[in-house]
Amino acid sequence: MSNEVLSNLMGESDSFPPDQDFAAQANATAALYDEADADREEFWASQAGRLHWDTNWSQVLDWSDAPFAKWFVGGRLNVAYNCVDRHVDDGHGDQVAIHWVGEPGDSRDITYAQLKTDVSKAANALESLGLRPGDRVAIQLPMIPEAIVSMLACARLGLTHSVVFGGFSPAALRSRVDDAAARLVITSDGQYRRGKAAPMKENIDEALAGSESVEKVLVVKRTDTEVPWTEGRDLWWHELVDAQSGEHTPQAFDSEHPLFILYTSGTTGKPKGILHTSGGYLTQAAYTHNVVFDHKPGKDVYWCTADIGWVTGHSYIVYGPLANRATQVVYEGTPNTPHEGRHWEIVQKYKVSIYYTAPTLIRTFMKWGAQIPQGYDLSSLRVLGSVGEPINPEAWLWYRENIGAGKAPIVDTWWQTETGAIMISPLPGVTATKPGSAQKALPGISAKVVDETATEVAHGSGGYLVLDKPWPAMLRGIWGDEQRFRDTYWSRFADEGCYFAGDGAKYDADGDIWLLGRVDDVMNVSGHRISTTEVESALVSHPSVAEAAVVGASDETTGQGIVAFVILRGNVVADEAGSEEAIAALRNHVAKEIGPIAKPRQIMVVPELPKTRSGKIMRRLLRDVAENREVGDVTTLADSSVMGLISAGLKDGK
Ligand code: WT7
Repeated sequence: MSNEVLSNLMGESDSFPPDQDFAAQANATAALYDEADADREEFWASQAGRLHWDTNWSQVLDWSDAPFAKWFVGGRLNVAYNCVDRHVDDGHGDQVAIHWVGEPGDSRDITYAQLKTDVSKAANALESLGLRPGDRVAIQLPMIPEAIVSMLACARLGLTHSVVFGGFSPAALRSRVDDAAARLVITSDGQYRRGKAAPMKENIDEALAGSESVEKVLVVKRTDTEVPWTEGRDLWWHELVDAQSGEHTPQAFDSEHPLFILYTSGTTGKPKGILHTSGGYLTQAAYTHNVVFDHKPGKDVYWCTADIGWVTGHSYIVYGPLANRATQVVYEGTPNTPHEGRHWEIVQKYKVSIYYTAPTLIRTFMKWGAQIPQGYDLSSLRVLGSVGEPINPEAWLWYRENIGAGKAPIVDTWWQTETGAIMISPLPGVTATKPGSAQKALPGISAKVVDETATEVAHGSGGYLVLDKPWPAMLRGIWGDEQRFRDTYWSRFADEGCYFAGDGAKYDADGDIWLLGRVDDVMNVSGHRISTTEVESALVSHPSVAEAAVVGASDETTGQGIVAFVILRGNVVADEAGSEEAIAALRNHVAKEIGPIAKPRQIMVVPELPKTRSGKIMRRLLRDVAENREVGDVTTLADSSVMGLISAGLKDGK
């Protein structure tokens, strides 16, 4: 993060004490911190009491094989039973679980009783295909009820799901399917995007050509698009699932049974399959959803705008809210289809009271103008959440003023795919909030800002964010790569046994934590993690590119934007390759290789790249160019004239 942004953040001294009425009814209290500090394991044991366990655990935490944790050892539970059936058993079958809103305007209200029937049918269908506990199922679906039903059906059967974001390319899907050796893929014929039906099944076929692990493809009909069909492999959801019995008896699984794998970008090209298990994960997802959002079952209407392809959708659309018997909105489409007030129209219609979104979208709303939300009744909103990247104070204040009527507490929640659930956040009704700061580790969680030597820094200073105690929803490993798990997270501060999050952070004078962005080669574009190396490999796989370097440059709307510097192959004429069409072709090539979210904002053709003597690209200098700053210290470059060549070339070219 640039120094301007940093000083901007730190200069912000506003603080908003909790409203008295809100505090009086809040789920969280200041005493929770004391309770957790007094006995952390006892605290988590009591949080696990939020769930129904078929067999109680004999030990809260087994950390003897660190960094491989076991939580609630010996306990057995069924995750889907906890998210669905028990609410029906408790007499809440008629409560709406999901107000689903389709992009074209269709909608469905699904009660807990209906959800139980739907999940049971899907579970019976998956069982009929011969899938057994521990098998992996890949899911690539738009935001339709079947996506949630599929995940819960897997959970019910002890199948490990791997959800792949709908915007990922066939190649990205294939590498994930192969890595996890998925036996089944669940997808749809197409998906609605900005008012149009886009194909989905076609991409799946391209991705799965020659796959060795995939036996069946289960296809939900969503857009009624004609699709290619492979007899013997492909099955329609409405034929297979609808014909099943709506009764299914869930079986309990070990607390450490794998629940899901979710791939996320690391610093190398190959995405990491982050593994999460059952009891600890669900405990922390449910606990955080309850205290961070002040959720009241049967009263609140909750809406998390994430996609189930990301961890936010897993923990705060599927597992946390459903474990807590939430009534929630699930919206299929984009925020400006068919108009820029779509979200506020939905908030008004369903009287949404808790709204959880990402800074990039808040900044987009700002750009569209405050007159748009002003046209709707948003008085039902009482808690606002933010996640995915640091939220700048301007966006925070705009959010509070224009969406929260200057009153709703904002919870800026820091966490990661790896942490499984929220780790650092204010507690509404307890914390005096500060625009731009995630502030404090939640009760039961321990986070510190340390220097290179793992020494905690003083208030007012910055360093690296670490998690120095295990937590229930922590990742249990990287699928199939134990060494990478140790190297990525546990080697930097190995002696202290700390988890290295990859984020820079700072304490303010009060000791509150301010997140400052990634310290590794991972970019954050609209809250999505994309590695620079991944985009570089995609560019280099194009026939006209010899070498590429990619940086994340600060971007007003998306947080960071992808800027690529490419060196052309000898036989390619620079003028032609630098033409608008050629650049567009390169951008599209990246979209095809990874997905549209990885499309560079800007591609610059350069004669050389700045490298150290050991050959490492100095991205810091390229970032200076991308952000139109004076280029910094070049003394460690192997050839100090390179930056001059790059700058001169860019000036000539533009
Ligand atoms: C990275 C994790 C957690 C769900 C969405 C992203 C950044 C996330 C915040 C926040 C500052 C944040 C960090 C983190 N990040 N939330 N509130 N303030 N930064 O999950 O794709 O695993 O990305 O997102 O850099 O390491 P993810």
